[in-house]
Amino acid sequence: FQPKLLAGKRVLMTAGPTFEALDPVRGLTNLSSGKMGFALARACAEAGAEVTLVSGPVSQPTPAGVTRVDVKSALQMREAVLNHVSTSDIFIGVAAVADYRPVETAADKIKKTGETLTVEFTRNPDILAEVAALPAAPFSVGFAAESRDLDNYAQGKLSAKKLKLVVGNLVQDGMGGDTNQVVLFDAAGRHPLPLASKDEVARGIVSHISKLLS
Ligand code: PMT
Repeated sequence: FQPKLLAGKRVLMTAGPTFEALDPVRGLTNLSSGKMGFALARACAEAGAEVTLVSGPVSQPTPAGVTRVDVKSALQMREAVLNHVSTSDIFIGVAAVADYRPVETAADKIKKTGETLTVEFTRNPDILAEVAALPAAPFSVGFAAESRDLDNYAQGKLSAKKLKLVVGNLVQDGMGGDTNQVVLFDAAGRHPLPLASKDEVARGIVSHISKLLS
């Protein structure tokens, strides 16, 4: 691993889950631990990049040299990303952003009344698609977390969101643990990486990004 593959590059990233509040004490989230995103932020910083990491609620320590912006919801994540995107060369979306948020967040704790509770959800904006569609879009990299049919869905995301690279992983391989097995999808095809620690996988992704950039 060559340490300075991204020297002089400004990398903006998202990591972790989002938390979509239902009331002051409850909300919708997912099992992303932030480990993959934080490992990638660390690998980018070690490769010489200036890294800004927009993170959902996680309990990961901030990697050395990385500027961290903490957010909770998808809307806050979008705002933080849009605030930093114009000064970024590369955008990497590792966050597991909630696709939907409650239409309303109750000001007070929801009380136990009926036998059932119905909550209406509305679509969240797709941060990655929005960034990749900007007129001066950075080199945009997405992740795809699937429970099956990884190749189809990941390749679909590559073309639908006009990305340079999609890192595909199965949820059962990548979410929560310390290791991951990913397949990289780009215009040239599919490139599987071996099962490894998230730090090693992150270095493999950095090395592939630097190859695509040069
Ligand atoms: O955090 P860990 O426990 O280490 O787990 C790592 C991981 C499994 C979360 C990670 O490797 C991963 O796959 N992240 C992407 C998870 C995901 O939500 O994928 P998706 O297929 O729903 O989204 C596709 C891409 O669009 C992602 O780059 C995502 O960040 C982005 N997106 C999705 C929805 C949305 N509203 N805005 C987005 O930017």
